[in-house]
Amino acid sequence: MGWTADDVPDQTGRTVVVTGANSGIGLETTRELARNGASVIMAVRSVDRGEDAADDLREDVPDADLRVEACDLASLESVRSFADRIADADLDVLINNAGVMAIPRSETEDGFETQFGVNHLGHFTLTGLLLESLLERSDDDPPARIVTVSSGLHERGEIDFDDLHGEDEYDPWDAYAQSKLANVLFAYELERRLLTADANAQSMAVHPGYADTRLQYRGPEQRGSRLRVALNRVTNAVLAQSADAGALPTLYAATALDAEGGAYYGPGGFMNMRGAPERQASADRSYDEETARQLWRVSRESTGVSYDLPRPAADVDATI
Ligand SMILES: NC(=O)c1ccc[n+]([C@@H]2O[C@H](COP(=O)([O-])OP(=O)(O)OC[C@H]3O[C@@H](n4cnc5c(N)ncnc54)[C@H](OP(=O)(O)O)[C@@H]3O)[C@@H](O)[C@H]2O)c1
Repeated sequence: MGWTADDVPDQTGRTVVVTGANSGIGLETTRELARNGASVIMAVRSVDRGEDAADDLREDVPDADLRVEACDLASLESVRSFADRIADADLDVLINNAGVMAIPRSETEDGFETQFGVNHLGHFTLTGLLLESLLERSDDDPPARIVTVSSGLHERGEIDFDDLHGEDEYDPWDAYAQSKLANVLFAYELERRLLTADANAQSMAVHPGYADTRLQYRGPEQRGSRLRVALNRVTNAVLAQSADAGALPTLYAATALDAEGGAYYGPGGFMNMRGAPERQASADRSYDEETARQLWRVSRESTGVSYDLPRPAADVDATI
């Protein structure tokens, strides 16, 4: 038997931010962190949905220490406001979990294609703004962790620097895969920069395999395709693991004492869609440092958020 939620170590005294904490994997991650004593800041785009989820969760974990805060990743202003409001919290872990998948083309408040904007640029912004709080710790403390939730579908992703926002050509699945590849490239580049800074923090990427959540219905719902919603219900019932099983790689990366910075964790069972978490290899192109640096530069320019971290030693391009 592999690692399960029963193996989450005591989290008393730790403060964790989870984006998209009201639904699916984010909710199950929040539940297990709270059950084990963590204070969880639930970063949600709808405070009403967040409060409802927190109320439900408290029925299961009555003493759960939860704080619900608005954080719409489709609005840089909302992300900034969230970061300001939680500036008083001593953060230990940030879980970049929220996401949308294969939705019709739309744009965020700042004019980014929504999947790239929410899944990647919103989290790039959030992480940059919370970094100082995450790094405020002594060398004796366990390292802060930044866990970014990607997808096995990152393997079909390409970063199209000439058309990042799908203005010339838009395919919902390609846009999703691009955003999820960006998640892994970001997590690895952040780890390299943390290492260069000798910071007491680790960055890792995870994927949940295939888990039965709301994710699969949002695209068809937005397209008004009831048939596709019905088909996805059947596929989910047959093939998907539960949302709580899907949360295990995230929980492992966020809490396991032996989890490693720069790693990619996902379920080790059937076709890596289900099962206990293990360290895995991500797609070859996710290890491409040149692409990662270029993505970092574009992300910084797009969001206006600079990280107070030195560039990795191998990075000799002063323009990045
Ligand atoms: N389920 C899977 O099989 C699977 C597979 C691979 C990867 N993933 C990844 O797992 C992560 C969690 O997805 P899930 O499966 O748990 O799906 P989910 O149940 O649909 O949850 C997604 C969460 O993201 C939030 N969200 C969406 N847009 C947002 C925005 N603009 N600002 C802030 N939050 C926003 C949603 O909030 P609302 O409820 O308010 O909309 C919801 O809380 C995603 O990154 C996804 O790409 C999932």
